[in-house]
Amino acid sequence: AEDRYHDFVVQETQVKRLCNTRKIITVNGMFPGPTLEVNNGDTLIVNVKNKAKYNVTIHWHGVRQMRTGWADGPEFVTQCPIRPGGSYTYRFTIEGQEGTLWWHAHSSWLRATVYGALIIHPKDNASYPFTKPKREAPVILGEWWNANPIDVVRQATKTGAAPNTSDAFTINGEPGDLYKCSSKSTTVIPVAPGETSLLRFINAALNAELFVSIAGHSMTVIGADASYTKPFTTNVLMLGPGQTTDVLINANQPPSRYYIAARAYASAQGVPFDNTTTTAILDYVCSCSNKPGSSIPPALPTLPAFNDTSSATAFTAGLRSPDKVSVPSPVDESLFVTVGLGLFNCPRGRTCGGPNNTRFGASMNNVSFQLPQAYSILQAHRQGVQGVFTSDFPSAPPVRFDYTGNVSRALWQPAQGTKLYRLQYGSVVQVVLQGTSIFAGENHPIHIHGYDFYVLAEGFGNFDAKADASRFNLVDPPMRNTVGVPVNGWAVIRFVADNPGVWLVHCHLDVHITWGLAMAFLVEDGVGELQTLEEPPEDLPLC
Ligand code: C2O
Repeated sequence: AEDRYHDFVVQETQVKRLCNTRKIITVNGMFPGPTLEVNNGDTLIVNVKNKAKYNVTIHWHGVRQMRTGWADGPEFVTQCPIRPGGSYTYRFTIEGQEGTLWWHAHSSWLRATVYGALIIHPKDNASYPFTKPKREAPVILGEWWNANPIDVVRQATKTGAAPNTSDAFTINGEPGDLYKCSSKSTTVIPVAPGETSLLRFINAALNAELFVSIAGHSMTVIGADASYTKPFTTNVLMLGPGQTTDVLINANQPPSRYYIAARAYASAQGVPFDNTTTTAILDYVCSCSNKPGSSIPPALPTLPAFNDTSSATAFTAGLRSPDKVSVPSPVDESLFVTVGLGLFNCPRGRTCGGPNNTRFGASMNNVSFQLPQAYSILQAHRQGVQGVFTSDFPSAPPVRFDYTGNVSRALWQPAQGTKLYRLQYGSVVQVVLQGTSIFAGENHPIHIHGYDFYVLAEGFGNFDAKADASRFNLVDPPMRNTVGVPVNGWAVIRFVADNPGVWLVHCHLDVHITWGLAMAFLVEDGVGELQTLEEPPEDLPLC
């Protein structure tokens, strides 16, 4: 195992997209930011210098951060932000994870442009569970705003309205040539005829779940969220923001150029979304005489319709652990958590931009999560500072109702607070995540920091404890760090609370976390050094 040092300079950089030139926030002037490649077991030491005019933090999405919660990154949760002019060194070890993860800013909506791939190879001399192709490439899906995303969210927060949707989707930072002014703004991924390549898909989009297809090529999925999967072949991937999927593709078609295309899976009714398609080009590299000239446009794949729930469900149902696993049991902590939108009353004497003069909100178990400001939660926990958070996040919603039906207006207004749920070290935790249709039913890609978990089952309608328990996959459930709770449906996850610290749980649609669709687990220290959160680094930013 090695120590891998990197310098990240967060700075303003001028880029041109969709006919406009704009200054965006980048790492090291790159968009997307640098790809980090490590081996399982390596330690990453990343010095982040903030030369931008915004507060920033960096989150290493999906990294378990065993005992190193200080390096996790969500602002006001595990650290205070790095102020303009400040710096912080993130130091953490990759323990037992292989595949594709990523890193992104975890402060306001900065992650719109501040993100990059984190690729984890097996330890030296260890092998992959598949024949490692010679060629591989990260394929990072993102979103582009013509406006400054920080202004977009500030404006929406001020008025209580829904923020504007993005102006384009992107692949490796480029919208692709179906958008205006973008013929040169297209990512090209070279493949060798007859050879297999590994593509590492990452959904870094802010507010969209995405379908992906490649013209003329099927994909064999071999991993997701840096856990290997049982290989399965599919023409369509569906990734919620935060999720990754590793696939093998065989360049076995006539030498040519083929589009890789992605567009939104928008499950919500009546909520605006961007219905455009981003493309990259899969380019057969050869001096083959039968390859069509570059003036002939590549073939487009067929993508599912934006509301094609069954294609999305078919994809997620295909994900399985490679072998039989031992699902932790019996359950010590059983939570039933509703996830959904809400609408706050407009403060008296003001006008609000939400439906019927309300402000948009969102909640888990009717609690709309608020970040503290004077301390990070982890620091308050470690130092015993009172008044920063409470430990009374409810293990069930305050009232039971038909979550997926027409929900009475009386239930639309959540409570606000910084409520955590305390877990004993080592307890086995099961969470039923139940989507609600308050205001609108929607998919919610729920991410847990500091943990991977098994997804035991997913379904539609109201979760039924008796009937649905028989559907749990206790044989080969997939391991993930982000689970898509289906629209008007539910998902059940299970994990062992073996990582002490404070771990944010939230919807990875940034618009929803902005509205408060979050909570956090506080996992107590266990016994001895291996079960105890480390001391905070000396340069930990304070508020
Ligand atoms: Cu990928 Cu809390 O984030």
